[in-house]
Amino acid sequence: MNVNGKPYRTIWLEGDIVKIIHQPFIPHEFEISSLRTHQETATAIQEMWVRGAPAIGAAGVLGMVQAMLHSTPDNYRKFTVDAADLLKNTRPTAQNLFFEIDQVLHCIEQANSWDDACEKVLTQANHSVDTSINACQSIGRFGSELFQDGDSILTHCNAGWLACIDWGTALAPVYYAAREGKQNFIYVDETRPRGQGSRLTAWELGQENIEHAIIADNAAGYYMSRNNIQKVIVGADRIAANGDTANKIGTFTKAVVAFEHGIPFYVAAPISTIDFDCPTGLKIPIEERTPDEVLYTWGMADNGEFLRVRTAPAKSSAKNPAFDVTPAKYITGIITEEGIYQPADLHQLNQ
Ligand code: MRU
Repeated sequence: MNVNGKPYRTIWLEGDIVKIIHQPFIPHEFEISSLRTHQETATAIQEMWVRGAPAIGAAGVLGMVQAMLHSTPDNYRKFTVDAADLLKNTRPTAQNLFFEIDQVLHCIEQANSWDDACEKVLTQANHSVDTSINACQSIGRFGSELFQDGDSILTHCNAGWLACIDWGTALAPVYYAAREGKQNFIYVDETRPRGQGSRLTAWELGQENIEHAIIADNAAGYYMSRNNIQKVIVGADRIAANGDTANKIGTFTKAVVAFEHGIPFYVAAPISTIDFDCPTGLKIPIEERTPDEVLYTWGMADNGEFLRVRTAPAKSSAKNPAFDVTPAKYITGIITEEGIYQPADLHQLNQ
């Protein structure tokens, strides 16, 4: 996708360096960070310099490439298993991280020498990146067919190209529809506490000249009740085998209100986000992040200074679950790279 008219990916590899768009600075500054080791890549995932399930998965793969290249013929098996543990221990909910790293580990297990393992891991990394981008583009193609010209669409969090390598999941159909000439208006949930909607989704949509408005998270029900919203589309961090879907905290309440108003509620995600070993949403691990994300906010003052300010009483504590689970009964369809599936039919995708 484009930044000031220039095409970018969210994450890529240059030699043994992982390059990322540094997301905490957006929308105020656009900077690329260089991650020189798999430990730095793990930190970038944990600190959410790179975030969004498919992008976290890509960071996992590229971190494994770094570990492989920095290992030796004598230590590569243990070194890469330890690296996989470190990378997996960063964020527990995004299924793509585990799916992608396990694929790399499998390649290393199959290799008969360090050289062979390096070659296999690099081939696997290229394959993962291509598969992820193609999946998102296909999600865009299938999802755009659901949009009528003139529809207003609500989205929560950032499931755009910043959350993937390119295109996005929930926003891919928006971009695809725009390229087909459809005019859609996007209601962007602010997405407290970290503001992925107001910081990232709004910025992305602006780069693509897509009409949108940021709304406070608690305004979505008001707009749904006034017939202002025709569809809701969100991404996913992990989808259980029965279709229950973990996504950014606040998604569940949007789904219930949409259901109450008869508004279709779609989840867009690549098949790599489906955890076929997880029977229901109750088994999905939910990340609990620092209370500081609720107690403080941050941004840029008019003089250009980055500021972190406390918005809560000095002695108040906070709780901060990063995700919630939307039960399958509220989900109209799951848009994947293979087409749109009812939650009950997901098992058809389990190869
Ligand atoms: O905590 P984040 O910002 O990594 O959470 C991201 C989301 O919840 C997205 O909606 C989800 O990963 C889908 S990304 C295409």
